[in-house]
Amino acid sequence: YSEEDLYRPNFHFTPKKGWMNDPNGMFYKDGFYHLYFQHYPNGNTWGPMHWGHAISTDMVTWKEMPIAIYPDEKGYIFSGSSVVDVNNSSGFSKNGIAPIIAMFTYHDMDGEKAGKLNYQSQAIAYSLDEGQTFTKYSENPVIKNLGIKDFRDPKMFWDSIHKKWLMVLAAGQKIMFYSSLNLKDWKLESDFGDGIGGHGGVWECPDLFPMKVQGTDEVKWVLLVSINPGGPNGGSATQYFIGDFDGKKFTIDASFENDLNKSEYKSIWIDYGKDNYAGVTWSNIPDSDGRKLFVGWMSNWDYANVVPTERWRSSMTVARQIELQKENASYRLLFQPVKELTKYKSTKYKKEDIAIKALTKIIDSDAIDLSSVEIQFKISDLKNSGFTFKLTNKQDDTLAFGYNTSDKNFFVDRRKSGKTAFSEKFADRISVAKRTSTNVNISGTIILDKTSIELFFDNGETVMTEIFFPNSPFDKLSIEPKDQEFILDNIEIHKLNIN
Ligand code: FRU
Repeated sequence: YSEEDLYRPNFHFTPKKGWMNDPNGMFYKDGFYHLYFQHYPNGNTWGPMHWGHAISTDMVTWKEMPIAIYPDEKGYIFSGSSVVDVNNSSGFSKNGIAPIIAMFTYHDMDGEKAGKLNYQSQAIAYSLDEGQTFTKYSENPVIKNLGIKDFRDPKMFWDSIHKKWLMVLAAGQKIMFYSSLNLKDWKLESDFGDGIGGHGGVWECPDLFPMKVQGTDEVKWVLLVSINPGGPNGGSATQYFIGDFDGKKFTIDASFENDLNKSEYKSIWIDYGKDNYAGVTWSNIPDSDGRKLFVGWMSNWDYANVVPTERWRSSMTVARQIELQKENASYRLLFQPVKELTKYKSTKYKKEDIAIKALTKIIDSDAIDLSSVEIQFKISDLKNSGFTFKLTNKQDDTLAFGYNTSDKNFFVDRRKSGKTAFSEKFADRISVAKRTSTNVNISGTIILDKTSIELFFDNGETVMTEIFFPNSPFDKLSIEPKDQEFILDNIEIHKLNIN
């Protein structure tokens, strides 16, 4: 197998060549979803950061574009966001074209080496050619650093409720909230984070947005905060907070705070797998669509630089839709793969009412290529048992995942999934996620590509995303009961015809 054949994902975005980390600056305009990304085109490990660029009409197939923003004498171009300045509040418009404004963090390597604290500051750039090229603003930086070591990852948005531009920024282990009328002058309004949430590492890549609670007219604000290290199963992960925002200040909801205090590590995570980090949402999605659309970086700082690919490193998660539900007086985010994926579904295999008494084969690669599928399953009466799905290949590399009733944990076990020795932290444990849903049925959607699994249990209430590197493609899917026999009500396997 060549590296391309074995490990280049079928339908998850990867750069053609070189290093990639966080998704940046995502916006939608005129039929195109834009995705920028932390990129070092000249090497396959983290280095001088650029903003790479890709576009898509459906967030599933991507076309890589020329690099959009290059580092310069002020520093590397770290993570940030973009907005479409429809009313030209910035004044950068020409010939009636609405400018796209990007805000990013300048990371001044010389300043860092000299031991200064203020080497990260916020800068803007504008594009008048649909996000292909950007002109940096002559008065950069627009937000100077007054001595906070980690001060980065601005996420801007138009606050249609309070009628102003807002921006959230990670500062040490806090989030700072800024407002602006012209996208150039920013006023610090407040901060959030002291004594609340996970503090196992530095806070990064925040996002803030309002959402309607499913099936109601109640609006709550969602604050996403990535943290590294300190994730639930080691390394980097993304936690969230539900609350209210008055245009200046974020106040956590009392019931959500109570849920946090009851949870392990005082955090609730958007994903309990090891490989979904620094994810944020698209801006400028039309009201007629109204979805909150998200993508994350499918890796972990614990080992991202040494995963066994050479030509490129890392890929993004599938794009996901976020919803907010209130169940038993608790607010929870639900994440599901975007519905655009369904239009790629072709061949379908369906099985119903199978008694699972021992290890049972479900399907193999003679029937369907298991490196490009969406699987749905439902089990209505697990009794006191549990189930383990196993993906295997000729070498007996095994990726196992499932649920145990005894400890109420979903799990992913990649300890014997193939190449793991490149980092001690890659396969040091079984990743687990406590089940929160009280539904008697257990159901899930599984998205499989060559090197990744994305598990959306209970309608996306518990998500686990992990990567793996088998020695040859997984070609068999089986299921095994834990303690006692149960009925697998149904399982549907759809080929995703994406390549
Ligand atoms: C998160 C992060 C950001 C930073 C970027 C640098 O993964 O550390 O905080 O802007 O990566 O590449």
